[in-house]
Amino acid sequence: MVITTDTHLSNGATTKAESWFAAAEYVPPDAIFALTAQYLKDPCPLKVNLGQGTYRDHTGKPWVLPSVRQAREQLLAQGLDHEYLPILGLRDFRERAAETALGSAIYSGREKLAICQSLSGTGALHLVGLLLKKCQRPLPKVYIPEPTWSNHHQVFRSLGFQCESFSYYDYERMRLDWDSYLSVLDGAEAGSIFIVHACAHNPTGCDPSKAQWREVGQIMKRRSLFLLFDAAYLGFNSGDLDEDAFAIRHFIGELKLEAAVCVSFAKNMGLYGERVGCVVMALNSHVIARNTQSTLEMLQRSEVSNPPAFGAKIASVVLGSEKQRRTWYTDLKTMSGRTREMRESLHDALIACGAPGTWDHLKQQSGMFGFLGLSPEVVTILREPSSSSHLRDAQFYSVYG
Ligand SMILES: Cc1ncc(COP(=O)(O)O)c(C=O)c1O
Repeated sequence: MVITTDTHLSNGATTKAESWFAAAEYVPPDAIFALTAQYLKDPCPLKVNLGQGTYRDHTGKPWVLPSVRQAREQLLAQGLDHEYLPILGLRDFRERAAETALGSAIYSGREKLAICQSLSGTGALHLVGLLLKKCQRPLPKVYIPEPTWSNHHQVFRSLGFQCESFSYYDYERMRLDWDSYLSVLDGAEAGSIFIVHACAHNPTGCDPSKAQWREVGQIMKRRSLFLLFDAAYLGFNSGDLDEDAFAIRHFIGELKLEAAVCVSFAKNMGLYGERVGCVVMALNSHVIARNTQSTLEMLQRSEVSNPPAFGAKIASVVLGSEKQRRTWYTDLKTMSGRTREMRESLHDALIACGAPGTWDHLKQQSGMFGFLGLSPEVVTILREPSSSSHLRDAQFYSVYG
């Protein structure tokens, strides 16, 4: 229906407008992308973008992984067409991606898996949300760690789920808020959904230990909670894929729990813009898996029809042979190793310049993010063009402390 509404002009005046979309509210730009826009506008030659989760090489430039470059060259040499992929995506890619995330032992029981290519990790989360919505009445509550990647709330709220944050990080002690984690698991209604980062928690870089994951698993099993793994950094965290997939494989392989795994190859293959991802549902029977996969196919059809082909073809080549995979494993070590070294250098530099407080938490973190624990005031000072003079400023240190 057409609605008449007041719209505000830039000169402060108000006018009447008629539109079907008069109810659309102005939504401020996404904070991370807005920061990147601010960064691009900033003429300072010393600027560094610390907001966006994209890997940079030692010159500060995007890095095309050698494994990806080789796969791309191979595909181009073979000649590419631009045909549609099937609705579920490229079969080779789906199978290789699922095997990569779950490991070959779990994957050997693939008749109990439902696998669907997705628009990267975000699209995978969205598809799983749609699937849960289709299969669960009433809608279960979705528990999301605080802090987290901001889109978790957005994706699940936009689908109509009630989202509840639980304290994940102890900001005082700069470590996992383990007591809170346990108590929320114990207190959540049976049938609730927990979104967890499979590894390399964004933004804290702080993951449960293996012993803690085992405890989480026991409680989830006992309390009939459903686990949705956001697996956006497999291999990027420690440089070792199997190590990073520990929690996924423990829950599915050892505890025999049903779970959703949202896999992204944006970070670990540097295929950010190609939107290469996958939903892997581990299910209790092959009939449920078949039905679930067909439901995913129907949902995908009504969302995007067919997922994009080029990135999936690249990932499929990278994952498809022992030789290509070995190159990728080396790339993962390069990225995770350099990130670790940078975090250590930052730690040493902060100690060397006498920055107040303790910084050991930086060395304990892993993955793409370094969570310094600075106050919003300090971050604002560092972001402003004149921040270099602030660094020598007594006022800076007083806010800092
Ligand atoms: C924790 C986490 N999950 C999912 C994503 C989704 O990334 P993409 O949709 O690019 O795969 C990101 C990206 O930053 C992330 O940090």
